[in-house]
Amino acid sequence: MKILIRNIGQLVNTETVPVAFRAGKEMSTLHNIENAWLLTDGDRIAGFGPMNTIETILPGLEEEDNLIEIDATGRLVFPSFCDSHTHLVYAGSREIEYIDKIKGLSYEEIFERGGGIMNSVKRLHDASEDELVEQALDRLNEILMYGTGAVEIKSGYGLSTEDELKMLRVIKKLKEISPVTIRATFLGAHAVPAEYKGRPHEYVDVIINEMIPMVAAEELADYIDVFCDKGFFTPEDTDRILMAGLKYGLRPKIHANELDYSGGIQVGVKYNALSVDHLEYTGDEEIAVLKDSETMPTILPGAAFFLNMVHAPARKMIDAGLPVAFASDFNPGSSPSGNMQLVLSMACIQYRLLPEEAVNATTLNTAYAMGLSDELGSVAVGKRANLFITIPVPNIEFMPYAFGSNKIERVILNGELY
Ligand code: NIG
Ligand code: FE
Repeated sequence: MKILIRNIGQLVNTETVPVAFRAGKEMSTLHNIENAWLLTDGDRIAGFGPMNTIETILPGLEEEDNLIEIDATGRLVFPSFCDSHTHLVYAGSREIEYIDKIKGLSYEEIFERGGGIMNSVKRLHDASEDELVEQALDRLNEILMYGTGAVEIKSGYGLSTEDELKMLRVIKKLKEISPVTIRATFLGAHAVPAEYKGRPHEYVDVIINEMIPMVAAEELADYIDVFCDKGFFTPEDTDRILMAGLKYGLRPKIHANELDYSGGIQVGVKYNALSVDHLEYTGDEEIAVLKDSETMPTILPGAAFFLNMVHAPARKMIDAGLPVAFASDFNPGSSPSGNMQLVLSMACIQYRLLPEEAVNATTLNTAYAMGLSDELGSVAVGKRANLFITIPVPNIEFMPYAFGSNKIERVILNGELY
């Protein structure tokens, strides 16, 4: 099948010489084409250009049986969002804790009371694989219509070998049945389960000696994660787990510096993590460590918003020359939304990114943060045809500006229309 989109108001984030990510001043570079066309062929982007060049591709094309033509007058076409950090496989929901949050209890206090992650662990234990697939598929279908074309999904609500494997098998199943591109991350070290309370090192031993080898044997994970933060796992625990993961080829993508200057960024960079995520507590020392690394600093504004946390210093990082990525953290406890259009707005309003920077932060840089920027994250010939077409909007700035409503009319994933 081929899709020809004509009269595109603006074709956003095109590349003729693709780059892996954009950093520092380059983050405000966005190559857009006004009044453009775009052609897909199979699951690939076959060509694009300004409308005054469309004649070059038309001969022969209009006789094709399998051609769908779309008129995108007044609309924008974007590369799909890549959401490089979620926990969207979970059972039920946790709105009951919401009241505790409103009353002022902290994330750690809710966790201490057996709520938080432990609440989801219990629910996941009681749910079947089929139930988990069904619930996660609803969430995937929802974010698909909000413009997400690729998503990373973590385990971490199992916390026993059996339930971690169950979660990862659910993610594997989702990879097979959803048109959204999925990457799986093993997060056995999300919290210390109750039966190991006071003996966290023994739980780390189970992760290293039992879980990682089994996850690797079944090829259930692309990446490995640790919640390296105050009250959860120490940099020393993290070091041991990441070392063990590397032996099985699992590159780290870790939770770091959400609750304190935890040393998480340093240990992540030491193991050449693909990304370090959250970063509310990032100072000059952490920024210096991230410079010249291959690790993508990733900010999760939904969690900071929902938990009323301090904001990661995104502006300072970009001004220091770093790249930043923005992802949703879609999960039942700290960010029950996977709406990347809202993430785009929050990046601009709360973190002072320019709209162009925010687009790079949610497309190309998040694609890099899930190891996919050679395939996704921008509009380039040969990249996968993962795109969305907006409703009529005046310009790119309108996308983060008009927050809260869905401004996407049509979605193309792998060259198919949704
Ligand atoms: O990214 N910070 C750790 N983990 C998740 C929260 C998970 C939960 O509360 O269920 C996060 O915010
Ligand atoms: Fe998270």
